[in-house]
Amino acid sequence: MDFSAQSNISFIKQKIDDLERMTDQDNPYTRIVFSEKFYEARSWLKSEYQKLGLKVSTDEAGNLIGILNSKTDTDKVVIIGSHIDTVPSGGRFDGIAGVVAALCVVKYINENNINLPFNLAIYDYLGEELNDWSISCIGTRGLIGALNEDILSRSNSSGNILKDEIDKIGGNSKSLTKPFSMIKNIVACLELHIEQGKVLEQKKIDIGVVRSIPSISRFSVEVNGQAGHSGTILMDQRADALVTSSEIITFVNKLALRLSKESNQHFVSTIGKINVHPNAAAIIPGKVEMTIDLRASSKSSREQYINELEKQIDAMNQNGSCKIEMRNIAFAPYVEMDKELVKLFKISSDECGFSNIIMDSGAGHDTAHLSRVAPASMIFVPCKDGLSHCPEEYAEISDISKGTAVLFKMVEKLASSSQN
Ligand code: GLV
Ligand code: MN
Ligand code: MN
Repeated sequence: MDFSAQSNISFIKQKIDDLERMTDQDNPYTRIVFSEKFYEARSWLKSEYQKLGLKVSTDEAGNLIGILNSKTDTDKVVIIGSHIDTVPSGGRFDGIAGVVAALCVVKYINENNINLPFNLAIYDYLGEELNDWSISCIGTRGLIGALNEDILSRSNSSGNILKDEIDKIGGNSKSLTKPFSMIKNIVACLELHIEQGKVLEQKKIDIGVVRSIPSISRFSVEVNGQAGHSGTILMDQRADALVTSSEIITFVNKLALRLSKESNQHFVSTIGKINVHPNAAAIIPGKVEMTIDLRASSKSSREQYINELEKQIDAMNQNGSCKIEMRNIAFAPYVEMDKELVKLFKISSDECGFSNIIMDSGAGHDTAHLSRVAPASMIFVPCKDGLSHCPEEYAEISDISKGTAVLFKMVEKLASSSQN
C-alpha cells in the first residue's frame, strides 16, 4: 500500500484543484451550500463517483452518496465522508480534503481489485458549514433525525425556506424528523479532516486521532434601540443599538477568556456575525442582530457561561436604553468518538509508520452528529499555521496522502475484523 505514489499524489492534487475553481469568482473560496457553485461542485462530484464505478444516489437529507458495493451480499456499510461546501471566503481544504481522500481510497481499492465484506459509501454530507439559516451539518443532522420542523421551516435572508432547498437538491424534507433506518447497518463512519489548528504542525506530528468534539451552541441576539439623526440627538438622549452590542461583544470575550482558563478544557466563544440597521453613517443604529458561537467541552462551564451572560443581559435590559433579546438557535452536544475505532485508527497510523497523537477537536464536524447513533471516529492532518475558514488555508498534499493511507489501512482492518 503506497499512498505516497505519484499517481495518488497527482490524483489528490488534481481533485483539490478542480474544486478550487468552483468558487464565487470575486470572493475566493466561496461555495455556499445550495448556491450555483455548490450545484456545480455536486455535479462534478457525481461524475467523479461515476468514473470510479460507484452507485450514485442522494438520500432524504440531501447527502450525495457514492457506493462501492461488496461482491458479498451484505447490508453492512462503512462510510467515509466529509463536505464540499465552504464558509464565505473560506479555504480549499476544509471538508474537501476528506472527500478527495475518500475518492482516493476507492481508486486504490479498484486498482487493487479488493473485495470488502461490507459496502463502502462515500458521503458528501450536505451543508456542513454554518449557513444563512443558522444551522450547520444539515445532512448529518437529517440522517440522525435531529432536524425539527422549526429548523426546516426557517427562511434565510433572501426568504428561501430550508426544506424547499433540501427538496430541490434531491432530498425529502418530510422524512427528516426521525433517524434513517440504514443507521443500524453502519459498521463505522470515518472522516479525514485538516486539523484547523496548530497542534500537529507545531509538534511535527503526521496524524491526529480525534478523541472528542466539543459542544457547539449558537445564540441569536437582537438589540433594539431607536434610530435617529446622528447630528441632532444629543449623546445622553440616545438608544444606540450598536453601542449596547459592543458592550455585549466585550462581555462575551472577557467571560470566555476567564472560563477557558478556569475550565482547563476546550472553551471558546465568538461573535463573528453582526448586522447593523440601517447601517448608515448619519443615522444612530436602531437595531443590531448578532450571532454568538460557543464551543465547550465542559458542560458545567457552558452552563456557567449561559448563566452569566443571561444575567448580564437582564441587567442591561433593566438599566440600559435598549431592549436585548437572546435566543438559542442551534446546539450540538459534546461527544466522544468510538473508543474501539480510536484505538484502531492509532494502530493503523502506527502500522503506516506515521507519528500520531490522540487529540481533541476544537471545530465541529459531521462525525460529531453521526457518533450519537453509530460508531464514528476521525483523523486530522496538519494545516499551515493552523489557518482555516480563510483563503490562506493550506495543507500539503503529501500530508493528506498520509492521512489517506491511514484511512485505507483502517478500512482494511475493519474488513478483517468483519470477516472474523
Ligand atoms: C465547522 O466548520 C465549525 O464551525 O466548527
Ligand atoms: Mn469542515
Ligand atoms: Mn468549516
